[in-house]
Amino acid sequence: MIRFEQVGKRYPNGHVGLHELSFHVQRGEFLFITGHSGAGKSTLLRLLLAMERPTSGKLLLAGQDLARIGNAQIPYLRRQIGVVFQNHQLLFDRTVFDNVALPLQILGLPKADISERVQIALERVSLREKAEQFPHDLSTGQQQRVGIARAVVHRPALLLADEPTGNLDPRLAAEIMGVFEDINQLGTTVLIASHDLALIARMRHRMLTLQRGRLIGDGEATE
Ligand SMILES: Nc1ncnc2c1ncn2[C@@H]1O[C@H](COP(=O)(O)OP(=O)(O)OP(=O)(O)O)[C@@H](O)[C@H]1O
Ligand SMILES: [Mg+2]
Repeated sequence: MIRFEQVGKRYPNGHVGLHELSFHVQRGEFLFITGHSGAGKSTLLRLLLAMERPTSGKLLLAGQDLARIGNAQIPYLRRQIGVVFQNHQLLFDRTVFDNVALPLQILGLPKADISERVQIALERVSLREKAEQFPHDLSTGQQQRVGIARAVVHRPALLLADEPTGNLDPRLAAEIMGVFEDINQLGTTVLIASHDLALIARMRHRMLTLQRGRLIGDGEATE
């Protein structure tokens, strides 16, 4: 599904964010991207979202080279992807239902379809009964789960998360990782950038380790 072939990213100021990165990800995989602050984790995710372009190499996502796709194709590319951020960026003046429905409203889906899909997405994160509440009435972990529901409501093939547990205590962080595993079980490919090594080690998934923009490890995380 994803192929990095000697992908490099040099920022306009000359800083090299990624050096000749090569790895493959199969459809349905669950993997972590780890490394110290500044290692290039967010850069890697931004390349997959076509928020940044590689400056060298080939980056294939579902057969398309992201170094070469036209700007007009980017919205179609992003429909295949869901994104979860550390601060979930919910709209606090809208209900949980409306927050999750937003991506579908942007796509212009009929109301009945939106309603059905939002229910399913909320069920996947165990929040169906909270649909009519507002985000400030939810706990931090529940808010992050709303962010995950919104990221998967359009049924993306690929789910990207950048430090999705960065603001959570260890128990909640583990719970949120469990939600990602559930989503992966249903067939979505999941890539999570995180520096929470203790948590990652317990989950025994594939882990890519970056160091100053270079890939220095690729294997199952162990304690
Ligand atoms: N727009 C930019 N222009 C120049 N340099 C950048 C830009 N964005 C990121 N960088 C640099 O590229 C390197 C990788 O940054 P990146 O944000 O990918 O790191 P990260 O692994 O996500 O770190 P963190 O754990 O702190 O989020 C850093 O040295 C950063 O300063
Ligand atoms: Mg980052």
